[in-house]
Amino acid sequence: MCGIVGYVGKLGDGERAREVVMGGLARLEYRGYDSAGIALVSDDRDRVATAKKAGKLANLSAELEANPLPEGTAAIGHTRWATHGPPTDTNAHPHLALGGRIAIIHNGIIENHAELRTELAATGINFLSDTDTEVAGHLLGSLVASGMSLPDAMRATARRLEGAFTLLAVDATDPQTVVGARRNSPLVVGLGEGENYLGSDVVAFIEHTRTALELKQDEVVTITPDEVIVTDAHSEVVEREPYHVDWDAAAAEKGGFDSFMDKEIHDQPSAVADTLRGRVDERGRLKLDEGIVDEYILKSVDKIIIIACGTAAYAGQVARYAIEHWTRVPVEVELAHEFRYRDPIVSVKTLVVAVSQSGETMDTIMAVRHAQQQGATVIGIVNAQGSTIAREADAVLYTRAGPEIAVASTKAFLAQITAGYLLGIYLAELRGNKFPDEIDALLRELDEIPAKIQRVLDTSEPIREVARSMANEQTVLFLGRHVGFPVAMEGALKLKELAYIHAEGFAAGELKHGPIALVEQDQPVFVVVPSPRGRESLHSKVLSNVQEVRARGARTLVIAEEGDAVAADHAAHVFYVPSAPVLMTPLLSVIPLQIFALELAAAKGYDVDQPRNLAKSVTVE
Ligand code: G6P
Repeated sequence: MCGIVGYVGKLGDGERAREVVMGGLARLEYRGYDSAGIALVSDDRDRVATAKKAGKLANLSAELEANPLPEGTAAIGHTRWATHGPPTDTNAHPHLALGGRIAIIHNGIIENHAELRTELAATGINFLSDTDTEVAGHLLGSLVASGMSLPDAMRATARRLEGAFTLLAVDATDPQTVVGARRNSPLVVGLGEGENYLGSDVVAFIEHTRTALELKQDEVVTITPDEVIVTDAHSEVVEREPYHVDWDAAAAEKGGFDSFMDKEIHDQPSAVADTLRGRVDERGRLKLDEGIVDEYILKSVDKIIIIACGTAAYAGQVARYAIEHWTRVPVEVELAHEFRYRDPIVSVKTLVVAVSQSGETMDTIMAVRHAQQQGATVIGIVNAQGSTIAREADAVLYTRAGPEIAVASTKAFLAQITAGYLLGIYLAELRGNKFPDEIDALLRELDEIPAKIQRVLDTSEPIREVARSMANEQTVLFLGRHVGFPVAMEGALKLKELAYIHAEGFAAGELKHGPIALVEQDQPVFVVVPSPRGRESLHSKVLSNVQEVRARGARTLVIAEEGDAVAADHAAHVFYVPSAPVLMTPLLSVIPLQIFALELAAAKGYDVDQPRNLAKSVTVE
């Protein structure tokens, strides 16, 4: 959370620094939108020029229209998800030090800020904001004042800080340098020609360059128009090979849709197809993308723990059914933030699977580190290339969903399930749980999914229409059994996130043990009905649950398999999805629920891409 952009270019191209940074902030706004700000080094050698405004980036753009900044060569920009101090103009970044000579922006939480604030205040420094960032700024400023260069001062500052941070700073006396540091928060470098970039995420600079460098823990980077110097915490220069970013700028655009969310829902056929593509090696065996895990270890694994947060955790819950079924290895799914504090039983025979779209969710990162300390092998299922979880896991299986910009996750969810299934198939093959023809059959079933998703999308008008008619609902319940249970929970989460409607997902069988008390006349209840061709008892039991709520006045909205006429008899509204093998159905049945949440939120006039209070990448614990 919090988006960070840095740029440095050649003299004489005055508007570019501001344009690049504002463009980058627009792409990073998904990371936080409580306030935004920019600092620019102009011809004024005493003071960095700044502008900052509470609220969305549009407020900052309006401010820059009204009061344009001078031209400059280096700039840093920030979009904030507030942690320390409310989202006001004053608390917005950048924060200034040394009478305006130094400007700093920050993503993360500095845990020892109070102690440092007391120390700095004792030297006569006057703090203007409530933020932990300003402390880092003044620390940096005092070190620069003592004669240190900006990079040296940044390294010394980083050594004093505890917690998580990405920091970028500029100095009015040095118009062609931006310095950055990172610990536990993301920062990537974009390499241009005669200009260089920094960003929390490659989308910050993807329209300018697709050549990037990773920064590792506790590294400091100095960018000038022609040079990028990375040093470690001991000031040793580190050589780093650049990598090519697979995503292109068009993938980070709305592509004619009203919202990123709608576009990303429509990206789902390719998100699944791309995640499946090229997974078989020359021996005809499935393969991971990066890193190597000894096959002997994977054969001896006696427990799998999937750790994740939010939508990724629901993807993990879906994948659990398949992985356990195919491999016969017990699978637990745990919220990453709970995992670490529970003293989980983890050993060298435990495989931990960390699922994360961003690869930067702090709760998941900390859980990965905890698992590794206990000797577990960690495989990441990650969307963002080169992100922290991708780097720190022993191996990675990338979801190739492309950039997901809307804060609430959609296409990453489907890609995560797909990757989880691939991992299950890989393990089943390796451990000999399945014969080659069974593996082929499973892969064929997966290959058929993208076209079926497309059919769900092509026939989505009825659910959109119903959603628009339900804008005034106060509560919506979601029921599902087996793989339909996590789908129900994901459907409820989407509605909470986007439409701010109270929504709960329940295991359909649990209904009678309490939640049925919530049902009153006209209460909308979504039910994910399993295929009648699956285990017959499952289908009929869920239909019994539908009857139970209908008998108490509920209005039932049923997601069912094409041709399931019985389900239609039980529903006020039925939405059909193409038939698929039971374990594949979540990849289809969740889509009407995503569309429902999107359409209802849009009908209420809400910003579906940037729902209130949320951030896409939660980089604090
Ligand atoms: C945030 C987002 C969710 C996302 C979760 C996990 O809460 O708002 O949409 O599912 O983080 O994010 P990750 O990047 O780890 O998948």
